[in-house]
Amino acid sequence: MAQVVRFSVSLEAELLEQFDGYCRAHRYPTRSEAVRHLIREKLTQESWQADERQVTATLTLVYDHHRSQLVSRLLDLQHDYAEQVVSTLHVHLDHDRCLEVIVLRGSARQLRRVADELQSLKGVHQGHLVVASGESPHGS
Ligand code: NI
Repeated sequence: MAQVVRFSVSLEAELLEQFDGYCRAHRYPTRSEAVRHLIREKLTQESWQADERQVTATLTLVYDHHRSQLVSRLLDLQHDYAEQVVSTLHVHLDHDRCLEVIVLRGSARQLRRVADELQSLKGVHQGHLVVASGESPHGS
């Protein structure tokens, strides 16, 4: 069981009265129960919003271009996500391997999905998604 820590909070009497009213209305057995619930709800909401924020990222892939169907699968997927794929840089590393850097823009959630799909293709040796920090001014 997780360790429970006590902490005290200072509130204006009027705010506490309103909070007690809230606890009664929602049938919380104790203030602690209500505070726990409200904190969890707020944190979940925050992480959900972080997931929806618009970001720019690069996805770096190293793959074996001899692997049958891989190159066309990679291309098909990039066309499926044409709205998110901004640009692609391709470098022929050696006889077998290609390096591809794909610049992506969209919600953090979407980009993780695109990256997961591309990285999980058979023949992809490495995949790294790097999300640029900070808010994009191009968010829609
Ligand atoms: Ni190549």
